[in-house]
Amino acid sequence: MIVLGIESSCDETGIALYDTERGLLSHALHSQVKMHAEYGGVVPELASRDHIRRALPLTQKVLSDANATLGDIEAIAYTQGPGLAGALLVGASIAESLAFALDVPTIGVHHLEGHLLSPLLEETPPEFPFIALLVSGGHTQLMRVGGIGDYELLGDTLDDAAGEAFDKTAKLLGLGYPGGPAVSKLADQGDPKRFKLPRPMLNSGDLNFSFSGLKTAVLTLVNQHQPLDEATRADIASAFQDAVVEVLATKCLAALKKCRLKRLVVSGGVGANRQLRARLNAKAEQKGIQVAYPRLEFCTDNGAMIAFAGAMRLKHGGKADHAFSIRPRWDLAELTAP
Ligand code: KG4
Ligand code: ZN
Repeated sequence: MIVLGIESSCDETGIALYDTERGLLSHALHSQVKMHAEYGGVVPELASRDHIRRALPLTQKVLSDANATLGDIEAIAYTQGPGLAGALLVGASIAESLAFALDVPTIGVHHLEGHLLSPLLEETPPEFPFIALLVSGGHTQLMRVGGIGDYELLGDTLDDAAGEAFDKTAKLLGLGYPGGPAVSKLADQGDPKRFKLPRPMLNSGDLNFSFSGLKTAVLTLVNQHQPLDEATRADIASAFQDAVVEVLATKCLAALKKCRLKRLVVSGGVGANRQLRARLNAKAEQKGIQVAYPRLEFCTDNGAMIAFAGAMRLKHGGKADHAFSIRPRWDLAELTAP
């Protein structure tokens, strides 16, 4: 079955074609990062309008890249939530109208299920069950994943998400949006030992996270070292990244231990962080743990993960009425097995 996937929950229009027999056929992405950069964050109305402009040309591109035509599409999956309402509506209405015209079934996909399953697109996919660390701009969650739709939440952030902490730290250091890659790049030039930042909830005994205190600690450092020179900015970025990475890695190991599992999957934008990957890989090697990541371009939002998650569910049937609703707020734990 050839599934067209459409992602439009935030500031990236992602389209992909996934074949349940042959795997990923093609994918294309348009990032709106440059458009939103001058505002320092995503402007929802601009995001929606841009999704409208990009979705169909990108669909034509993935079809031609896969040597396919509209008639080859057998089902359509789109992000139903969570995300920006207007942006979701664009993807949902395009998906349902196209499906109506082609007379194919549809499925609304949970954006985080897309992230969670994205490492399964790789050549040697991890087997269920596994522990998943979902670290994005909006989420920091540890889950026990027993299978598609079998998600047990083990830990969550009590305040800011890890990606949000990266973005806020970037702002404090005068770096652009999105902050994660910029902070990470600057941190690589810094000395992680010059400043020691707190490790929030490292020893809390549970699997929850808290990152808002870390942001305040960064603000204090920034204020103490005005005017900031280049080396100090890099050292602060480095101290910040070191603290976040240590907390994330430690809690991943604790979750694996608690569930007696040896498989870890890391997904979401912060999963692209080089130091996080290095730390997890080193720990994993010591303890005989297998760690799986999506390829770098599929850590952040993309259409491939939506086509894939949709395809896994469409195997069990889709929806044919072409009525739709979006779910800007949607708890992953509400999902059930297909
Ligand atoms: O998964 P994603 O594309 O969007 C959400 O669904 O939130 O994640 C975006 C987040 C942003 O906060 C961004 O700053 C962060 O992921 N990010 C990173 C890196 N690349 C992206 N954070 C740390 N290091 C990176 N290399
Ligand atoms: Zn995302």
